[in-house]
Amino acid sequence: MLSTLVLFLAVGAQATQLLDRNLAYRSPFINAPHLSLNTKSLEKRFQSAALVRRQTQDASPFKDEHYFTFFGGNFSNAQVVWSGGVNFTHRVASGDPLDTSVLLWTRAQGVSPAGSTALPDQSVPVCVSFKIFNNPELSGSPADSGSAFTSYDVDWTLKVEATGLQPDTKYWFQFADCTNPASVSPIGATRTFASSTTPADEVNGGKPMTFAVFSCSQFQAGWFNAYGVAAQNTSADVFIHLGDYMYETTGNGANIGRVTLGRELATIKDYRQRLNQYRTDASLAFAHQHHPWITVWVSLDDHEVANNAWKAGSSDSNDTEIGCSFSDSGACFTDRKLAAIRAYHEWMPIRQVIADDKLRIWRNFQIGKLLDLAMLDTRNYDRDITDLDYNRALVNSVKDDEGRSLMGVEQETWFYDTLSESQKREAVWRIVGQQIVFSQLINPKQGSVDLDAWDGYRKNRARIFDHLSNNSISNTVILSGDSHDNWVSDLARPNDTSYDEVTGNGAFGVEFGGTAVTSPSSFGTNISPADADVISRGFVAQNPELQWSEGSFRGFFTLTVDPGTLNATFYGMKDITNPNLDHLEIANFIVKAGENKLSRPVAGGAVTAGIIKAALNSSTSAPATSASVTAGA
Ligand SMILES: *[C@@H]1O[C@H](CO)[C@@H](O)[C@H](O)[C@H]1NC(C)=O
Ligand SMILES: *[C@@H]1O[C@H](CO)[C@@H](O)[C@H](O)[C@H]1NC(C)=O
Ligand SMILES: *[C@@H]1O[C@H](CO)[C@@H](O)[C@H](O)[C@H]1NC(C)=O
Ligand SMILES: *[C@@H]1O[C@H](CO)[C@@H](O)[C@H](O)[C@H]1NC(C)=O
Ligand SMILES: *[C@@H]1O[C@H](CO)[C@@H](O)[C@H](O)[C@H]1NC(C)=O
Ligand SMILES: *[C@@H]1O[C@H](CO)[C@@H](O)[C@H](O)[C@H]1NC(C)=O
Ligand SMILES: *[C@@H]1O[C@H](CO)[C@@H](O)[C@H](O)[C@H]1NC(C)=O
Repeated sequence: MLSTLVLFLAVGAQATQLLDRNLAYRSPFINAPHLSLNTKSLEKRFQSAALVRRQTQDASPFKDEHYFTFFGGNFSNAQVVWSGGVNFTHRVASGDPLDTSVLLWTRAQGVSPAGSTALPDQSVPVCVSFKIFNNPELSGSPADSGSAFTSYDVDWTLKVEATGLQPDTKYWFQFADCTNPASVSPIGATRTFASSTTPADEVNGGKPMTFAVFSCSQFQAGWFNAYGVAAQNTSADVFIHLGDYMYETTGNGANIGRVTLGRELATIKDYRQRLNQYRTDASLAFAHQHHPWITVWVSLDDHEVANNAWKAGSSDSNDTEIGCSFSDSGACFTDRKLAAIRAYHEWMPIRQVIADDKLRIWRNFQIGKLLDLAMLDTRNYDRDITDLDYNRALVNSVKDDEGRSLMGVEQETWFYDTLSESQKREAVWRIVGQQIVFSQLINPKQGSVDLDAWDGYRKNRARIFDHLSNNSISNTVILSGDSHDNWVSDLARPNDTSYDEVTGNGAFGVEFGGTAVTSPSSFGTNISPADADVISRGFVAQNPELQWSEGSFRGFFTLTVDPGTLNATFYGMKDITNPNLDHLEIANFIVKAGENKLSRPVAGGAVTAGIIKAALNSSTSAPATSASVTAGA
């Protein structure tokens, strides 16, 4: 208890600073005091006046759901800073590196002292210190260090920005309990990016940079083996998640040991509990611990909030009276969205881009003169109404409307400026991370398109093509997720007769659409490679710009980028019904700088799974692997 007392005295003057240092308190609502946690008033609560009150007041009337293990209703042992021991329950994570800073994350929950049966006091903050070094032994003096508070108010999460770092450098970091520095978190590994002016061939110390790209990880659908494979069996430097990092639904994962806790998500407690459970997956925890992540949305894709979200609703909730009552929880969409966003910002090492704009997560990373990585929000930021199942005919009738935007005016303008600025500063590649399939994708059977993808917002897509062509912007590579299947296309205007599907001439770049980490194939849950290929064959024949389609494997892809070449490798998981690292490379694509299309022959002329255009004329598809394959769950 001595350390507690000392810390209390030391902390008195700077408690607000210690609270503010933890970005989880104020983000994502930094300039909206009515929505953010006011750290000044939290400080008051943590200080002596409140302490006295805590010691004399019976806590049993407190029904706040965040206060669920409130010190047995007796405040007598309340302290100002918890010193009974800390549990780093979810290891560590890092994200959104810039050239001289990176976000570091952990979760520090108080535990009862050994031998005590009392629940830890949840009415006081936990104090956590951090140190970051340029070597894995953590020797020498740290490049940055500091302390910050966390508490039940932010679900014991802690997100700090380490600053003053060297560009293009690897770092290792660790957290500790301020009251007992011997109690430490696991060591995390991360890095910074090259400064924007670094010549392309010097970025990453002159070695190619590798990004691992993911989407659609549903807990109940399977084990997150893809993250483990990327972290342990590829040379990935940075992890990119394009959305549907988690799902609001429950579903049945009992047969594979993946039962989701709680109900369909609506309140802050629901969203926190689900993120907590997802992060217990060992492959996911390992990948967060060892690499920086760059993610889009909370809602970032739809399922971080709710299915098929748009700016004022989703398929089962919206801000009308009937929309509120329709959802299981009775929560209206806006309440749900705010709860989802707050929990996401607590649990994810993501930056808040603009303090005034809580929903803005679109942002750009300039990685030397090698590339710009523009991350878009094509889901929740000012998106016009999407296909909500019950309104499909309506959306179909407006899909060509000029004024209809997927991105919102502000984001659209920013995106065009970002592409132009990238070209102007002579970055070689423009990589665009976003949620949904960009290229026209006509279903060969029904002749229909997915109105929840860019096909439902055609004029917005046309404006992007206009901007690329009007400004001669080259080397654009669009990444997409959401569809649960693999789609690789030359980037070409729909129905453009000046595009040649054989040579690729007339294209503006390429699109790599990746399959899901676990969510079931849209071709059919657990569909076999052979059956999926029948469907892929139809899609590839129907759509000129579509060069590869694959619908059986769950997995991810990597992009290895240097100034001359971009190499995309697609990985399939052999079995996601249990935790393992069994995988295979199913296809590989090269894009040469300046060519603005997939290199011919596409995929080197052969793939291990799925259908490439060149295979359409052969009577048999590429041989399926002999390995036994369980694609979905
Ligand atoms: C609260 O705990 C203190 C110290 O452990 C004890 O003396 C006191 O009787 C308890 N009060 C109640 C109402 O249980
Ligand atoms: C620490 O947290 C982990 C994960 O929630 C849990 O399994 C473990 O029992 C906790 N340890 C203690 C001492 O509370
Ligand atoms: C993947 O990495 C794990 C852990 O390092 C290793 O045991 C396994 O052999 C690797 N698998 C392949 C196919 O390289
Ligand atoms: C809101 O949701 C209800 C229930 O799904 C639906 O009937 C209603 O049309 C929706 N309203 C809007 C404006 O989307
Ligand atoms: C591109 O150029 C066309 C024709 O000159 C013009 O109509 C259009 O507004 C331009 N669009 C963009 C996005 O620059
Ligand atoms: C392209 O042509 C197909 C077939 O005629 C049509 O269904 C589709 O709507 C067209 N796409 C656009 C963007 O006009
Ligand atoms: C592309 O990357 C894959 C996976 O690392 C590798 O097997 C292949 O040789 C690379 N291709 C080229 C042309 O560099």
